[in-house]
Amino acid sequence: ACRNDLLKGKKVIVTAGGTREPIDPVRFIGNHSSGRMGFAIAKAAVMAGAEVTLVAGTTDNLKTPVGLARRIDVGSTRDMKAAVDSYYDDCDLVIKAAAVADYRSAHPAENKIKKNDDTLTIEMAKNPDILYGLGQRKTHQTLVGFAAETTNVIEYGTKKLKKKNLDMLVANDVSAEGAGFKGTTNIATLLFPDGSMEKLEKMDKDELAAIIVARAAAIMAKKNS
Ligand code: PMT
Repeated sequence: ACRNDLLKGKKVIVTAGGTREPIDPVRFIGNHSSGRMGFAIAKAAVMAGAEVTLVAGTTDNLKTPVGLARRIDVGSTRDMKAAVDSYYDDCDLVIKAAAVADYRSAHPAENKIKKNDDTLTIEMAKNPDILYGLGQRKTHQTLVGFAAETTNVIEYGTKKLKKKNLDMLVANDVSAEGAGFKGTTNIATLLFPDGSMEKLEKMDKDELAAIIVARAAAIMAKKNS
C-alpha cells in the first residue's frame, strides 16, 4: 500500500473481528472472523492520513497496525456498540467490517453449565444493531457497512444498505472460494445508494481495503463539494 492524503485530518472508526456472547463463564457463541478484513482497512485508513480508532473483537492474533490513534478491544456486541458510539459524534467515517452476533444468550449462567440432559436449550435475545443505530443518528458522517451473505448477495446487500442508511455497502459471498472469513483474499461487490454497483475480482484483503478507503474518500469529497 502507498501513502496518500485521501483521508488527511479525518477521524475514522473501523471495526474488525468477531464478537463473543457468553453462555456461561467458560463458553461463548462466536464466529469465524479473523479480523483480517478490518485490520487491512484500518491500515489503509492510516496510510490515507486518517486518525483511526480500531475497535477489535476477537481476531487471529493479528499485529496491531502501526500508526493507529487507538485500539479498543471488545468482547460482546454490546461492548462493541458502547465503544463505537462513544467515538461516533465527531467522527467522519465509520467502516464496519466486524462480524457481529445478532443474538446473545438471554440469561448467561453464573456458573459453568453441568452436563446433564440429552439436549440443552439456550434462549437467545436479539442484540442491538450497531450500524442501524449509527444510520439513525447520522449527521455529517459517512457510513460504510458490510454484508456477509451466502445467497442473494446483491439483493440482501441492497436491503441492508437502505435499511441502515449507509453511503456504501461491501457485499461479500462468504460461501465463495477465496472470499469472506479467515483467508487473505476476498471477493466483493460495492453497492451505492443511487443503485450503482462495482463488482470486484478476487483480490488480497489489503488491496480491497485500499479500494474501499478510496471510494469512501470520494463519497466524502463529493458531500463537501
Ligand atoms: O475477519 P475476516 O476473517 O477477514 O472476515 C471478513 C468478514 C467476512 C467478517 C467481512 O468481510 C464481513 O463480511 N463482515 C461483516 C460481517 C457481518 O456481520 O455481516 P452482516 O451481514 O451480519 O452485518 C451487516 C453489517 O451490519 C456489518 O457491517 C456488521 O458489522 C453490522 N452489524 C450487524 C449486526 C449487528 N447487530 N450490528 C452491526 O453493526
